[in-house]
Amino acid sequence: MHFKFSSTFFLVSSLASTVLSCPTATEGKFGFAKPKSTDLRGPCPALNALANHGFLPRDGRNVTIRQVLQVSKGIFFVPAYAFLYSVQQHKDIYNVDSALLLGVAKLGLLTSSEPDTFTLDDIKLHGTIEFDASLSREDFAVGDNSKFNESIYSTYANSNPGVSFYNVNSTGKAMFDRLALQEKKNPQITNTDKEIGFRSFTAALPLAIFGNVTTGVAPKKFVDIWFREERLPFAEGWGVPSCAIDTKSLPPLIGSVKTASRWTSSGGCPYVRTGAGDAPTLDSKAICKQLDGLTKGK
Ligand code: HEM
Ligand SMILES: *[C@@H]1O[C@H](CO)[C@@H](O)[C@H](O)[C@H]1NC(C)=O
Ligand SMILES: *[C@@H]1O[C@H](CO)[C@@H](O)[C@H](O)[C@H]1NC(C)=O
Ligand SMILES: *[C@@H]1O[C@H](CO)[C@@H](O)[C@H](O)[C@H]1NC(C)=O
Ligand SMILES: *[C@@H]1O[C@H](CO)[C@@H](O)[C@H](O)[C@H]1NC(C)=O
Repeated sequence: MHFKFSSTFFLVSSLASTVLSCPTATEGKFGFAKPKSTDLRGPCPALNALANHGFLPRDGRNVTIRQVLQVSKGIFFVPAYAFLYSVQQHKDIYNVDSALLLGVAKLGLLTSSEPDTFTLDDIKLHGTIEFDASLSREDFAVGDNSKFNESIYSTYANSNPGVSFYNVNSTGKAMFDRLALQEKKNPQITNTDKEIGFRSFTAALPLAIFGNVTTGVAPKKFVDIWFREERLPFAEGWGVPSCAIDTKSLPPLIGSVKTASRWTSSGGCPYVRTGAGDAPTLDSKAICKQLDGLTKGK
């Protein structure tokens, strides 16, 4: 009887200490630490930041789709304690619905030589997810398409002078200016429907996560810390978004950002690289031709 009481007490008190130590995630297991020289990071600020806090493997290796979806939006397992545990450890950091991320997470796997995991560095493979005219990285053909670059980011950082927030207009303006710059600088630029789709998606996400998915207004201080330091700005007052960023709430913001970017294609055909090296690519023109051939054959 006594033993039962004390083990229950131990369980409850250890859960309580998890609650107390987690909301800030500035220290301990989920505290921020810069990556070691042997740790891998890549072109996605969101995944890098999660790894810098230990929500994803700190070494940036053996990342699974399930892990990525789980830390972006909790996948809750059946046992009641597992549910409590994942909420209390703030595993659903960005409150982004898995349905929005599953496609890109699966593309991530194509960039890896492992069957069921990828590293944060793998996903820089140009043309699978990684695109030209990013807000914070150089184009693949011109420089480092993986590491944060302040001079690239300055276009975004200076897009809304005199106020403390980014919004749809400033984000659209930065997207427009970044594309114009890279079109001049990078003769090999790829800029099709696929790229503007990804660019609009990734430009809308920080506005939603660090600000408001409805208004698209986000404090610069949160967004800047996230991009520049790849740190979650808990210490500055940011918290896990209270409204779900999901297939209902995010697409209108993606659309607004795309419109504000006044995008036009540079021509060319969308394609997806299905692997590193000389692996085949999925070229939409080639696919259309193949499908055409099949139909005609019947
Ligand atoms: C909630 C989850 C996520 C958020 C908020 C997010 C956010 C972002 C943002 C804002 C960028 C743009 C960086 C820039 O333009 O400079 C980006 C780029 C990227 N993300 Fe993520 N991401 C998420 C999940 C993922 C997942 C699941 C994958 C795939 C495994 C992924 C792979 C990439 C890649 C490869 C890039 C580079 C694109 C480029 O700039 O060329 N991301 N992400
Ligand atoms: C982790 O990934 C590396 C490749 O990055 C692989 O060599 C290793 O076997 C993996 N380890 C586990 C435990 O899956
Ligand atoms: C950032 O990008 C600019 C423009 O491509 C380049 O000149 C500079 O060397 C890059 N900085 C770093 C630290 O890589
Ligand atoms: C965004 O720009 C449009 C067109 O220039 C303007 O009509 C609108 O008022 C701007 N909105 C905000 C929130 O600044
Ligand atoms: C976003 O802004 C809308 C409109 O101002 C407001 O009703 C809503 O509560 C805000 N949502 C969040 C998560 O702050």
